Formats: sequence, structure tokens, C-alpha cells
Amino acid sequence: MLSAVLALAAILPAFVNAQGAVWSQCGGTGWTGATTCVSGATCTFSNPFYSQCLPNSNGGGGTTTPTNPPTTSSGPTTSTGPTSVSSAPSGPSQTPAAGNPYAGHNIWLTPFYAAEVAAAAANISDATTKAKALSVAKIPTFTWFDTIAKVPDLGTYLANASALGKSSGTPQIVQIIVYDLPDRDCAAAASNGEFSIANGGQANYFNYIDQLVAQIKPFPDVRVVAIIEPDSLANLVTNLSVQKCSNAQTTYLACVTYAIQQLNKLGNVYMYLDAGHAGWLGWPANLQPAATLFNSLFKNAGSPSFVRGLATNVANYNALSAATPDPITQGNSNYDEIHYINALTPLLSSSGFPPHFIVDQGRSGVQNIRQQWGDWCNVKGAGFGTRPTSNTGVTAIDAIVWAKPGGECDGTSNTSSARFDFHCGLSDADQPAPEAGTWFQEYFTTLVTKANPAL
Ligand code: GLC
Repeated sequence: MLSAVLALAAILPAFVNAQGAVWSQCGGTGWTGATTCVSGATCTFSNPFYSQCLPNSNGGGGTTTPTNPPTTSSGPTTSTGPTSVSSAPSGPSQTPAAGNPYAGHNIWLTPFYAAEVAAAAANISDATTKAKALSVAKIPTFTWFDTIAKVPDLGTYLANASALGKSSGTPQIVQIIVYDLPDRDCAAAASNGEFSIANGGQANYFNYIDQLVAQIKPFPDVRVVAIIEPDSLANLVTNLSVQKCSNAQTTYLACVTYAIQQLNKLGNVYMYLDAGHAGWLGWPANLQPAATLFNSLFKNAGSPSFVRGLATNVANYNALSAATPDPITQGNSNYDEIHYINALTPLLSSSGFPPHFIVDQGRSGVQNIRQQWGDWCNVKGAGFGTRPTSNTGVTAIDAIVWAKPGGECDGTSNTSSARFDFHCGLSDADQPAPEAGTWFQEYFTTLVTKANPAL
């Protein structure tokens, strides 16, 4: 017994002082492991729950302090060039939301994601996979403004997009996700946010929106496409039996209304409200309640003309058009996004809600990989999907987009984390997984190797 204790004492200091490997956790609420990283990596704040050892080649995001949230803009300031979805250049984006906002524009590439991808690629030894991984940096994704501390980055992005628009003659789109509701993610745990309703959350959220507006105002020449609050309205359709959701209902509606009204005033922000996906609001029993909520919210907000439509499948895995229904979709005739969109569209007409859509296909490359349709967390075997394009071949669909930056985690598999959600521990969820939003290297490489179409 004593020798066992002595042996333990001998190895303990080494264990406590151990340095975290690249991509591993190195800080966050409740973290008791290593707080420094191996040479070549720096412990970088991600969110209050997670600091991560990022390779020093990672030029974007975070600060080097493991315990305090960033207070200033942290993204790099250079742009990485346009992507090609454009046709003819058009002038400043002051026209009402009459047409497809993607038409005639290039999507500006977020340097933050490019830096995440570059750092990840640097850690892939196989040359073919590395080259494929690097090519992902040229595919546009949305930037998630999931904390108020990140908002100043938006001004930097817009300044660079504006400059690129002027130098290239092709106007730019900056794609953002508005994602900071109080009591966020009310039916799950993995993405719980920084504001709580009980603690001034609505005022904090209004301030968050005001700050986004202030960042956008100086750049009327850049078009912003914004997805508004993933999961929030869908939770109000199907999850009011969850106390946190029923408690949040009034606040969510007030906050989303405030967001769309304020952003609408800018005249260059095209908004898509998040509408879950086929396996959520696409069930026949949920369609009308969903449409009723979108219709009433839109009308009550004064029918804001820059609300362009709805975003579906954000961060999910559904096909836009499945060759054959995935067996897990059984019982729902709307077994893919196109069926869901076609079923929802006629129900929107009563309020004049604009029936236009964008659809996330970023991680939809491989189908039939889930055990249940409701499985959403780091689903194993997923591959990058159809590339973003405004050439969708479907009038109702403005663009196929990559809303979830592939490689950023959906939620931790650490059961003792405050934000552990059981979905992230299921057998079809890739593990071990770090905290939501932080880099998940193994998941990224799988997305790369299983990409369909291939990278
Ligand atoms: C998750 C995370 C959020 C992150 C987003 C995109 O929802 O909670 O922090 O920004 O995914 O990766």
C-alpha cells in the first residue's frame, strides 16, 4: 500500500506538469489537467468552458490567455480572396430584398476559418490528404458570432471585404450567424451561451445586436447575409415541454424580433431565419405550427423587407435531395431538405413571408450514417458536401451554403463538462470530442477524406 502511494507520489508531479498535446484541452471551467502545451502549440482561449492547445501556425482567433475571454478583435486583417459564384458586378447593396442576394456577388472568405484549416492541414502528414485539407480554406463558410467578444471582428472583416470589393470590382458578401440568445440552446446542453434570461439576458442581447449594427453601418457597400439564431424558433415549435424553452419563449421572440428589425434598417443585411431541418420541422405535424410561428413573427415585426427567407439544415447532415430515403427518415414523407422546403413553402404565403431558402450542405456529403434522425452531434463518418453555389437549379433556393464551419465541434463528449449533452456520447458520435465550436482535428480529417464530391 505504502509503496503504491510512494509510486503514485513519484509519478504525480510529472502528470500534473504534463503539457497538453496539440488540439487538446488546456483550460476552462472545472478543468484540472495541464494548462500549458507542448512546444509548437499555445494554450488559446476559446470560450469560458474551453481553452485549446492550438499549433503556433494558427494565425486566427483567440488570445493566448487561457483563463480570460478575449476583449478585443482577434482575427487577422487580410482577406484571402474571392470565390466564384458571381456573374456581373453590381453597385452598392442598397436595393430592397427583391432578388437573390447572392446574385452578382462573391462570397468573402473568412480568415478565421482559413487559419483554422491551415493549422489543421499543417498537422496532417499524408500529402494527398493535406492538399485536400488545404483546399477547404477556399470554400466559404459562415462566421458564427456566438459571443459578444467576437463582434469587433466583424468590422475588420467588412473593412477587408469592402477593400476587396473596390479593388476587384466585384461586390462582396460577408456571411454571418447571429447566435447569442439568452438561455441559448434551450432543449440541449452543448451550445448553451453566455447570457441568461434571469440575469439581464434580454438587455445583453439587445446590446449584442446594437454592437453588430454598429460594426456593419460603416460598410453599406458590402452585402451581409445573416442566418438568424439557429435552433431558436424551431425549439419554440416543438420543445415547449422543456421548461427552459417555455421559460424562454417570450424572450426569444422579443430578441429575434429586435434583431431583424434593427438589422433591417441597415439596408444591406439579408436575413434568413433558421428553420431547423426536414427531420425536425419537416414532420407533417410540425409544418403548420412552424409556418404559423414564422408568419406571425414576420408580421409582428412589421414585415421587414430584408428578411429574405429561411435557412435549413444548419449544422445538420441531411441531403438536399436524397437518392433514396435514409431508413432513419421512415414515416416522414419529407425525407430530405427539398421535400421539406416544398412542403413548407405554400404554408408561408398567408403572411407574405418570402419563400426563399438557403440550405447548409457543408457536412451532408455522406448519407445514411446516423442511428436516429435526431442525432446531431459530431456524427461519425460525415464528409464535406456539395460546394456553396447560387446556381441551385431550384427557384426557391437562393444558395447552397456551408453554414457550419466543418472541423468545429458540435459538443463535448466529456461527461463531466457543464455543457455535456448525451447526444455527444452516443455510439454514432465521434469521440473524444472537445467543446462546441472548438477545433476537432480528427473530425475535420474525416470530413476531408469522405468529402462528396471529392476535394
Ligand atoms: C456550435 C457552437 C458555437 C460555434 C458553432 C459553429 O453551435 O456552440 O460556439 O460557433 O457551433 O462551429
